Amino acid sequence: MFLVRPPGVYHADSDTSLLIDVLRAGGYAVGRRVLDVGTGTGALALAAARCGAASVTAVDLSLRSVAAAWLNSRLHRVACTVHRGDLCEPVASQSFDLIVANPPYVPASSDVLRRHRISRCWDGGLDGRIILDRICTEGPALLAPGGMMLLVHSAVCDEDITLKRFADSGLQAEILARSRVVFGPLMRARAAMLEARGLIERGQRDEELVVIGAHPR
Ligand SMILES: C[S@@+](CC[C@H](N)C(=O)[O-])C[C@H]1O[C@@H](n2cnc3c(N)ncnc32)[C@H](O)[C@@H]1O
Repeated sequence: MFLVRPPGVYHADSDTSLLIDVLRAGGYAVGRRVLDVGTGTGALALAAARCGAASVTAVDLSLRSVAAAWLNSRLHRVACTVHRGDLCEPVASQSFDLIVANPPYVPASSDVLRRHRISRCWDGGLDGRIILDRICTEGPALLAPGGMMLLVHSAVCDEDITLKRFADSGLQAEILARSRVVFGPLMRARAAMLEARGLIERGQRDEELVVIGAHPR
């Protein structure tokens, strides 16, 4: 799908595609009110709409991403409400049947998240989990009865922790898909740091992406 992507907006990648594959194959968006948290170009939001969502809402911290997602929804003639803001905050009074997210999850050299740099798209703090953990704890409050969350991230930031965070939030979570991908330029550049911290094996230059589905118990 052609997507307008201004500078500073995340280029939909293999993580985006894996989540879209699961969304399609599972029919999770059909007839659902869908929220896409950290929408970037709107790739997941548009995919949900094309899969038959009843409504689609998207949020991003970055003004350029909000503009891109809005423009892409118009270009593809998809109804999508786009908000600028921090994770679930702009839609805190609403309920959704499905929340999808491809959050920033790459371990970085510090816990400082720079909201006005493109690193905002991938840096997740020292362990990669700052935004991921917030989605696991803040997302469930927005779920309507029978609702579900679908997240994608790298196994480098430990899928067992995500399962535990969801359990702590009262959700039953499971791995729905795994896909091994060769490191891109960013992960290659951080490989030595990841090795030194024991987050990857020595010489490892690929990672597993995981899609996790979670719903209230
Ligand atoms: C990995 S990108 C994913 C973009 C898109 N969903 C995709 O899969 O192609 C993460 C997105 O989260 C956004 N983001 C980062 N921190 C955020 C926050 N605190 N609140 C909302 N969005 C945030 C970034 O601007 C970026 O667009």
